[in-house]
Amino acid sequence: MVASRHPESWGNSAADAIYLDMQDQPAMAEATRGIGAAFVLWPAGVGPIAKTTIPLLQALEAAGCRRVVFLSVFGAGTLKFLPHVAVERWLADSSLDHTILRAGYFMQNLSTTHRVDVCEHNEIFIPAGGGHLAMVDTRDIAEVACHELLTPTKPRATYELTGADTINFHEAAEVFSQVLDHPIAYRAPSLWAFARRWRTRDVDRTLLAFMLVEYAVTRLDRSGRVSPDLEQLLGRKPRKLADFVRDHRDLFAAAPPA
Ligand SMILES: NC(=O)c1ccc[n+]([C@@H]2O[C@H](COP(=O)([O-])OP(=O)(O)OC[C@H]3O[C@@H](n4cnc5c(N)ncnc54)[C@H](OP(=O)(O)O)[C@@H]3O)[C@@H](O)[C@H]2O)c1
Repeated sequence: MVASRHPESWGNSAADAIYLDMQDQPAMAEATRGIGAAFVLWPAGVGPIAKTTIPLLQALEAAGCRRVVFLSVFGAGTLKFLPHVAVERWLADSSLDHTILRAGYFMQNLSTTHRVDVCEHNEIFIPAGGGHLAMVDTRDIAEVACHELLTPTKPRATYELTGADTINFHEAAEVFSQVLDHPIAYRAPSLWAFARRWRTRDVDRTLLAFMLVEYAVTRLDRSGRVSPDLEQLLGRKPRKLADFVRDHRDLFAAAPPA
């Protein structure tokens, strides 16, 4: 069962979709009825965690749910200002068995949020300077999340999910260029230049602020740490950026000339 604000447009016959809006508390009570285990996240931009994800967890607990897998963020163990920390604390005090997945930077950010710059400008336009990240493919995260929902390793666990090595966006641009077989540049824009380009786009202000904070932290080059958890949980190496670009090559096709 998949919960979405747009269940009518869910096109995968492998699972049914139900309506859920985390800003709509009556809908949460309805959506959580009969759910025994749930994968839960906080969509950045949806509003404060205390009014969205935590009420959803309360609804799940009240509905008799026994287990939650929560998608947290790499660094939540030390960066206590991160909103996800409040959920981790709530879970620790709750009756729910749970697995917390502290995930590194998603490779899929490059095929969603930042894809437009690759396709229209042949560049990665991210204000992360030379900072390194242990990028992770969300397909690997999904595999761990499924295992933890269906056959959990422990009643309560926290794992850090990263790729097998760290990479900065200069190196990422080289990987893109090699796999796509045309040059993709990384110009390391300033935070100001990034904000200026993004303000011309239809983007939620909270998401823009979140990206600016995230990339300002990456510029400090303290996020590039690798965790062994993903490899241990999956019994294989995590996917690499080159695998991700190859598998999504069609999405990165250059825009046709105007
Ligand atoms: N992006 C990263 O690199 C990264 C890395 C580590 C951790 N994280 C964390 O992972 C979480 C998800 O990140 P993301 O970038 O995937 O977020 P996202 O794209 O903004 O949101 C994920 C999903 O949340 C659903 N959603 C949005 N508003 C909703 C609402 N009001 N009610 C119910 N569902 C709603 C949307 O599905 P529908 O449209 O179908 O409703 C959307 O597809 C965040 O907490 C983020 O901090 C992200």
